[in-house]
Amino acid sequence: MPYAKIIGSGGYLPPRVVSNDQLAADLATRQIETSDTWIVERTGIRQRHIADEGTTTSMLATKAAQAALEDAGITADELDLIIVATSTPDFVFPSTACLVQANLGSKGGAAFDVQAVCSGFVYALTTADAFIQAGRAKTALVIGAEVFSGILDWSDRGTCVLFGDGAGAVVLKASDEPGIIAAQLNADGSQMKILAAAGNVSHGKVTGDPFLRMDGQAVFKLAVTSLAKSAKEVCEQAGIGLDEIDWMVPHQANIRIINFLSRKLGVPDDKVIVTVDRHANTSAASVPLAFDVARRDGRIKSGDTVMMQGVGGGFTWGSVLVKM
Ligand code: UT7
Repeated sequence: MPYAKIIGSGGYLPPRVVSNDQLAADLATRQIETSDTWIVERTGIRQRHIADEGTTTSMLATKAAQAALEDAGITADELDLIIVATSTPDFVFPSTACLVQANLGSKGGAAFDVQAVCSGFVYALTTADAFIQAGRAKTALVIGAEVFSGILDWSDRGTCVLFGDGAGAVVLKASDEPGIIAAQLNADGSQMKILAAAGNVSHGKVTGDPFLRMDGQAVFKLAVTSLAKSAKEVCEQAGIGLDEIDWMVPHQANIRIINFLSRKLGVPDDKVIVTVDRHANTSAASVPLAFDVARRDGRIKSGDTVMMQGVGGGFTWGSVLVKM
């Protein structure tokens, strides 16, 4: 059975950077109080990239995809599978993956979206891995892309300071050499209400709530316990110890969640990739963006064992172990 090997990665962030101070000043004009100190202490976030109005998820996804294809040294014609993980698609349909396929000028093969919110990228990566292992695809593009700024209630300081926009992508190729060595995904739909954007387009109107709502403390607790359990399980599946992991690339939601998790697992801080300070929480894009940053700055190298982890609405969570 072939392995799915990562042969390239790419990322794209919209150019507009909004610092905590800028956001606090903007919210203050609407009598909403927040501060750089509160945001940094509670989350580790210092800034986020925000897409201009009219910039869509497929636009960000296409840029990240182009960077990943260039890094992999292949053309879009070679792709036989495109999966986009997103909860902020351009349209109800067609899927964002189909829009990206058209933008790249790629023809043939399958293209579809996966929706598992902030776990979306690990869900999509695991899906592509299964296609490659089963011989149903040879060269896959897996993207996490979001314009979360479009579903934020900018009068809710408990959520609007936490998120940002962006896209990250990897190219996978069928290989005899190890690539993805283990994966495990989970969901608990009974926790659907703790993180949701419970709106819908129906009968010509938006029904329900078009904005993201979150019980931050419930998400926080569940994120730490579920990711710790998932990390141990995925290592057990691969037959390796946690101490054999070279790099942990956790979902970038909150530095406190990341620190709690790595300490619970006994993974030293210098093995944990952190971008939440610069990117904020970009949902499905956070893991591939952080992965790409660490590959490009030379930390993640060929031969390294990398654990990627996602957690978010659904409630969903999961881990993927990759041999580079
Ligand atoms: O991808 C998964 C997505 N989500 C997450 O990972 C989020 C997980 N949760 C968290 O990161 C944290 O729960 C938050 C950062 C969201 C909140 O931190 P917290 O330490 O749980 O704060 P809290 O909700 O208990 O709020 C503490 C206080 C409250 O004021 P009072 O009631 O003590 O007077 C809030 O109203 O902080 C207030 N507060 C703020 N103050 C200034 C909430 N948001 C803000 C804000 N600026 N932006």
